[in-house]
Amino acid sequence: MRLPLISLLFLKSVFAAVYTDPSLLPNSPYTYIVVGSGPGGSVLANRLSANPNNRVLLIEVGPSDTVNPNIRVPFLCTKLVPADVSWNDTTVPQTGLGGRSIGYPRGRTLGGSSSINYMVWTRGPASDFNRLAHETGDHGWSWKSLRRILTGVETLVPPPDGHDTTGEIDPSIHGSNGPVKISLHDKTAFDSRIFKATSQLAEFPFNRDMNSGNPLGIGWTQFSIGDGQRSSASVSYLTPVLCRPNLDILVNTLATKVVQTGTQDGLPIFRGVEIAQSASGPHFSRIATKEVIIAAGAVNTPQLLMLSGIGDSAELSRFNIRTIVDLPDVGKNMQDHVLLLNPFWVNSSSTGDDIGRDSRRSKDGLAQWEASHTGPFAASVGGNIGWFRLPKHSSIFRQVRDPSSGPHAPHYEFLTVNQFFSSIQAPPSTGHFITIATIVLTPTSRGSITLASANPFDSPNIDPALLNSDFDIFTMREAVKAALRFVAAPAFKDYVIGPFGDLAEAKTDADIEAYVRSQSAHVFHPASTAYMSRKGSKRGVVNPDFSVKKTIGLRIVDGSVLPYVPAAHPSSNHLHHRGASSGVDPCQ
Ligand SMILES: Cc1cc2nc3c(=O)[nH]c(=O)nc-3n(C[C@H](O)[C@H](O)[C@H](O)COP(=O)(O)OP(=O)(O)OC[C@H]3O[C@@H](n4cnc5c(N)ncnc54)[C@H](O)[C@@H]3O)c2cc1C
Ligand SMILES: *[C@@H]1O[C@H](CO)[C@@H](O)[C@H](O)[C@H]1NC(C)=O
Ligand SMILES: *[C@@H]1O[C@H](CO)[C@@H](O)[C@H](O)[C@H]1NC(C)=O
Repeated sequence: MRLPLISLLFLKSVFAAVYTDPSLLPNSPYTYIVVGSGPGGSVLANRLSANPNNRVLLIEVGPSDTVNPNIRVPFLCTKLVPADVSWNDTTVPQTGLGGRSIGYPRGRTLGGSSSINYMVWTRGPASDFNRLAHETGDHGWSWKSLRRILTGVETLVPPPDGHDTTGEIDPSIHGSNGPVKISLHDKTAFDSRIFKATSQLAEFPFNRDMNSGNPLGIGWTQFSIGDGQRSSASVSYLTPVLCRPNLDILVNTLATKVVQTGTQDGLPIFRGVEIAQSASGPHFSRIATKEVIIAAGAVNTPQLLMLSGIGDSAELSRFNIRTIVDLPDVGKNMQDHVLLLNPFWVNSSSTGDDIGRDSRRSKDGLAQWEASHTGPFAASVGGNIGWFRLPKHSSIFRQVRDPSSGPHAPHYEFLTVNQFFSSIQAPPSTGHFITIATIVLTPTSRGSITLASANPFDSPNIDPALLNSDFDIFTMREAVKAALRFVAAPAFKDYVIGPFGDLAEAKTDADIEAYVRSQSAHVFHPASTAYMSRKGSKRGVVNPDFSVKKTIGLRIVDGSVLPYVPAAHPSSNHLHHRGASSGVDPCQ
């Protein structure tokens, strides 16, 4: 999607407790130090500072989220990479993508990736959580145990156009008092065709609320958008508590390592953090009296562990890093969701394509948003989602065990976009389109994060190993065929003209596979690089209570701890840290 460059006025900074220079931090000791301010770190900083006896320091390498006014405007979510608030890394060449390297952005600002993401708000299937409970031996992870938290983090608010949402969401399973605002989008002509198709094709049933624990079927996407504005982890969990005198936030500063401060019962204590603003500039260190919590995300958390001497000793010795804790699984087991954007020509002018082409419309849209937080700029992309399973008799199951968490968990996803959307094919200058993104939710490929150098200011090697297994390529191919069956529903007659570009030429399974490998990218869902296992297990990196194995004083709370990438858009999953919902007590 291309939009004319849009500049908004800088918003007034509301950050009183935010330090931009580590040398100016107060000298008194901190009880807890949190590294990284994504959904993991923001929630922790909030909950720990709710106790006035704790002094909490939150460290973020990026700037405050007020530096980029586009963050607040949902429709401009695609304008946040590359930007002053993103990491702009690329992957190592991906064999499964025909040797291509692809962009691997993450948020680099207060709120982490939740400040630049597409705000799709999904919980995932109940069986994903039950599998986590079963595999870690901790019942606290079960769907039943987490339900109260899942509801408690949310406040369901009306969509920007205020339409009656009866039948589009089940309010009884959503919260009304939590910090994250969630809502549906405005109704479009495409929506009504989609829902007509669900009553015509039994393969694609309607699901009133995909966040019930049983996501299967097609329904309305819920977004972490409230009153037409992004409801990021920063907006939800940090902004309301900035006035707490016991919370300090330090931005523009990298944690370069966590530091051993002693030994207890033969185990190393890691209560120190070294920080710096550049490789050549001054380095500072701070000590937590209780704990250091790493929440740097699934790419940077394993990098920070390895730089600190926690990881696979063979790997660390290649960079002359002394191993303090030999944990071979650090940086391994990496998972992500591969995504393919499939555009179709449509016979309609009521798509979003013209907003991107016509600067007048886009100016009007932005003006409307500024005046009332309504209109096209109040919506993200991806108005409807379908979650589906491969048929039981699929030939792949003769070869591969079903990797999903249970019979009500999906293998693949459709995300519908009411315009042309592609990271690879250039948008045509005329015509109207819809796009069906197909996504593999239960990859069996496993990638890795490894060090590229011992310099913490260098990015690590990022290898999500996309489409690197028979299951993954099979599932994406079948998802594309399912999308073709879906748009053939009578509801799309005279509307969908046909597939655009390379998909139009793909006739055989082999053609479709070649198309898949040449066009796929990812949905920005890195996970599982410091995964959780049973207490006492030699595999994995953290225990079910998030403590790093074989250490004292150190925890990890972010997307890297989930042993499997959730069969969902995962940002809500990082908020389930068992305290996330317990009221935010704004202090003003
Ligand atoms: C473009 C994009 C679109 C997405 N769309 C969606 C969506 O629609 N729905 C959804 O559910 N999910 C989406 N996601 C994914 C979702 O946002 C992430 O899963 C989630 O934010 C991960 O949370 P986290 O706390 O693990 O890490 P992050 O959100 O990545 O936060 C980590 C933070 O730590 C900081 N950091 C890293 N290293 C250091 C260090 N050494 N010192 C100090 N700070 C450090 C980073 O700058 C960052 O701010 C999207 C992601 C992206 C990038
Ligand atoms: C990403 O790119 C933007 C725009 O080019 C730039 O401002 C930003 O500093 C880059 N981020 C990093 C971490 O280098
Ligand atoms: C476009 O839609 C009109 C009705 O609105 C129909 O008459 C026409 O045949 C359609 N064109 C195509 C190419 O489907």
